[in-house]
Amino acid sequence: MKHILSVNQFKKNDLKNILECASIMEKQCKSGKIKKLLENKIVACIFFEPSTRTRLSFETAALKLGAQVISAENAAYNSSAYKGESIEDTTKMICSYADVVVMRHSKEGAVNQAGSVAKKPIINAGDGGNEHPTQAVLDLYTIKKHLGHLDNLNIAFGFDPKHSRTIRSLALLLTHFKNNHFTFVCPKALNPTLDFLEDMKNRGASFEITDNLSKFKEYDIFYANRLQGERFKSKKEFEKYRKALVITKVLAQGSKTLILDPLPRIDEIEQAVDDLPNAAYFDQAQNGLYVRMALLLYAMETL
Ligand code: CP
Repeated sequence: MKHILSVNQFKKNDLKNILECASIMEKQCKSGKIKKLLENKIVACIFFEPSTRTRLSFETAALKLGAQVISAENAAYNSSAYKGESIEDTTKMICSYADVVVMRHSKEGAVNQAGSVAKKPIINAGDGGNEHPTQAVLDLYTIKKHLGHLDNLNIAFGFDPKHSRTIRSLALLLTHFKNNHFTFVCPKALNPTLDFLEDMKNRGASFEITDNLSKFKEYDIFYANRLQGERFKSKKEFEKYRKALVITKVLAQGSKTLILDPLPRIDEIEQAVDDLPNAAYFDQAQNGLYVRMALLLYAMETL
């Protein structure tokens, strides 16, 4: 049984196999000839936090592979968690119905708790400000697809590395590959946490932190992410920083910098940037479907 709980569990060879499988899934989807490898399986999607891309791409991935889907969106209110049922008891019940469980939770570590009692594979679809491993794998897939390599990258992350689980997961995953340099671009108040920076140091990662976009055109990739309003202590603090740094068309046009964003977008990228050839965030979201097909197969040991 293979849970997917953290990017730390992946070895380079696992990533190679998953990315290759995702590429096959993309080809099969585009040709309309998809092998129904999960026929007679049931995929449960249990989301205690809002989602558009992660939940719907996992559900689409399951359906394309021939599985059936049971789903609880807004599970904090629409499941018996609202009545006080523990995450452990909820997980045991879902595992008695489904063959694999995709779970998002607002609390760091809650999906790990689920994994500790689960008799079926659990996939972490985001746990609070901690991790979003399946997003990081689809980010890798997108980088490989657009740039052809995952090493020797000069990659910047903005603008809320303090709270962003997608930044944390992707940066950690990219330390598997040689000679990558990381820049975290944010207002000082949103600097990455010390424990994360310690982790990066222990991995031998080369990184810097800045509060401005003056080197935008030098980066191979700019990975933008909205300020995570739901994780700020106060709305006032969120409003103070939400438009402090923005990728504008004036800044981005003429550059070769690949612009990624896990989405949803709020203010971090001007809408006019969408038409630029280096704006790849909607393709990135689309890739989520192929990568999540591969990840379902990985979790079900069908890869
Ligand atoms: N990138 C991402 O996790 O998007 P959703 O919150 O819409 O799932």
